[in-house]
Amino acid sequence: MATGLTSLHFLITLYFILKVPLMFAQDDHFIYNGFHQDNLLLDGTARIHPDGLLQLTNNSQQQVGHAFFRLPLKFNTSSSGLTQALSFSTNFVFAIVPQTPPIGGHGIAFTISPSWKIPNDSYSNYLGLLNPSDDGLSKNHFLAIELDTTKGPEVQDKDDNHVGIDVNSLKSIESATATYFSDQEGKNISVELLSGNPMHLWIDYNETEKLLNVTLSPTDIQKPNRPLLSTRIDLSQYLLKSMYVGFSAATSAVASDHYILGWSFNKSGQAQSLDVSKLPQPPRQRKSKDRQGQIIMILIIAVVIVLILVTAAIFVLRRKKYAEILEDWESEYGPHRFSYKNIYKATKGFSDKELLGEGGFGKVYKGTLHSSNTQIAVKKVSHDSKQGMKEFVAEIISMGRLRHRNLVQLLGYCRRKGELLLVYDYMPNGSLEKFLYGNERTNLNWLQRFRILKGVASGLLYLHEEWEQVVLHRDIKSSNVLLDAELNGKLGDFGLARLCEHGAILETTRVAGTVGYLAPELTKTGRATTYTDVFAFGAFMLEVACGRKPIEIRGLPEEVILVDWVFGCWRKGAILDASDPKLEGNYVVKEMELVLKLGLLCSHSTPAVRPSMREVMQLLDGDADLQELPHESTIFGNFTNVEASEILLSINSSFDKGLTASSSTDSVLDSGR
Ligand SMILES: *[C@@H]1O[C@H](CO)[C@@H](O)[C@H](O)[C@H]1NC(C)=O
Ligand SMILES: *[C@@H]1O[C@H](CO)[C@@H](O)[C@H](O)[C@H]1NC(C)=O
Repeated sequence: MATGLTSLHFLITLYFILKVPLMFAQDDHFIYNGFHQDNLLLDGTARIHPDGLLQLTNNSQQQVGHAFFRLPLKFNTSSSGLTQALSFSTNFVFAIVPQTPPIGGHGIAFTISPSWKIPNDSYSNYLGLLNPSDDGLSKNHFLAIELDTTKGPEVQDKDDNHVGIDVNSLKSIESATATYFSDQEGKNISVELLSGNPMHLWIDYNETEKLLNVTLSPTDIQKPNRPLLSTRIDLSQYLLKSMYVGFSAATSAVASDHYILGWSFNKSGQAQSLDVSKLPQPPRQRKSKDRQGQIIMILIIAVVIVLILVTAAIFVLRRKKYAEILEDWESEYGPHRFSYKNIYKATKGFSDKELLGEGGFGKVYKGTLHSSNTQIAVKKVSHDSKQGMKEFVAEIISMGRLRHRNLVQLLGYCRRKGELLLVYDYMPNGSLEKFLYGNERTNLNWLQRFRILKGVASGLLYLHEEWEQVVLHRDIKSSNVLLDAELNGKLGDFGLARLCEHGAILETTRVAGTVGYLAPELTKTGRATTYTDVFAFGAFMLEVACGRKPIEIRGLPEEVILVDWVFGCWRKGAILDASDPKLEGNYVVKEMELVLKLGLLCSHSTPAVRPSMREVMQLLDGDADLQELPHESTIFGNFTNVEASEILLSINSSFDKGLTASSSTDSVLDSGR
């Protein structure tokens, strides 16, 4: 390829060397539909694009570019025998693309010049043809047809869009604002040299008539019948024998791209008119503006599409994020149904900062409902299957209808895939357990403890006897008693509660509840009753009065089981020894005695001997007197020391959490627990 080009170049060079002597005679007419490097002599910024477009200047400031036909032509000579030596005819198509429309500069000049090398000091505001000190000198010997796009006061330009005839000077001998004569409309129509559109210029000189005609038109118009400029001038006074023909263009502080698309010249007759369709196209300003517009449009569309996609993605993600499961049967629970979105927002997206606690059932989060500004606690229970969900939700809703000041109010629920969310009233003081076993600052005095016991008792009484159905709580213990802002005790976590019709006994196949609070018959038969709740309440009473757990590893083996220990104290006639040392003896003796004895009585191994919650309530209220306790130790509590130790060991090894871990349950919550 390279050698091919080199040899081609050599042949072309040889051709020109051989042809040079014949040039004047034969190469006095040419037509260039686009240019080739060998056609022209280039100077300054002028260059030829690969598609043949001649660019005289780019739109950088203070640039000058020249392009001349590669050989000089004979003009002012009679000796050569040419009768019309000065006549010529030419037309070319140009385009001026301003840098910042509508301002551009300076322009293009078709030039007949003694030399193709124009001194470097030629000024750009003199179209790159000369410098001011030379302007107008007769030694200049040039003719130029200027396409001037700036109004230069130094050369007395009429405006910034004109065509002028210049001889030896940039002060035009004649000039006219750029227009063309429309043959059809019979009038001049103005054109914008700086439009960036290709335009056609014809220059014809007739030596006989000494008439110089300059005609301008857009490229889609045939050469108009009437020229723009028509000037009588004797070029023999100015032009030398040998002259170069070509173009000069310049930019100044304002700049344009100056292009010549094609050029036809004839020294001995009418120049052939250019076929515009064959010419290379300039990168048009309008086009680039259009392209800019297109790019902007594409960008806008792209941005819009991206926005739509992002919005859609966010929407889908949010849908997914907030997706819930809502089935037809739930419609009746509408008022109890919370939207996941609201819960999500209330808990700040289940943020760890809002985490209140974590149990076997799942995590509890604090939240604030934005709509009502109420504080809530959200229990997040995971469940794997839909099985039993309907019944469970029914239960939940039923419990939502439970209203008692000593029950933590269930506000509603929400279901998601694999998750159940229970919304409760928020209890600012958390669980009683924290107070009983926490540091001294959280220690509760007897008055507060007694009030909590009475409160929980009344809550449980409500569940057992005062509501339309019997509700078994099945997991009464200090960690399930929550304290409100005034340290009122409220029974919470109905997770294990089961509903059953009044009078019916709930049949269970597996034991539910917490070790230490489980009635002996419950562990044997698995049957939960109000009596088993009472048993747990007894353990809870002792827990509150003694400040220790129902089963706990202690120094002495007989102290492991709280019931046994309290019973031992009672037998010794010193039941008050069992009271919580943290109270430091500050309690109402009668009340303390009552609570301890009642705790023992509720822990009776025979269910029927245990008082009902109503009786418990009456006793606590002082409306009844406590019966004398039986003296056999075996009838209280449910474990021997050996059993208790075994339980402790097994629990410690499997949960490592002590005694509060729930044993497995047959509740529908099973799946989540
Ligand atoms: C214009 O041409 C000059 C000289 O060739 C060059 O230095 C400059 O970078 C060009 N400017 C642009 C905008 O192409
Ligand atoms: C042009 O040629 C004529 C006749 O030969 C001569 O008188 C005249 O001076 C020439 N013009 C110039 C500018 O040289």
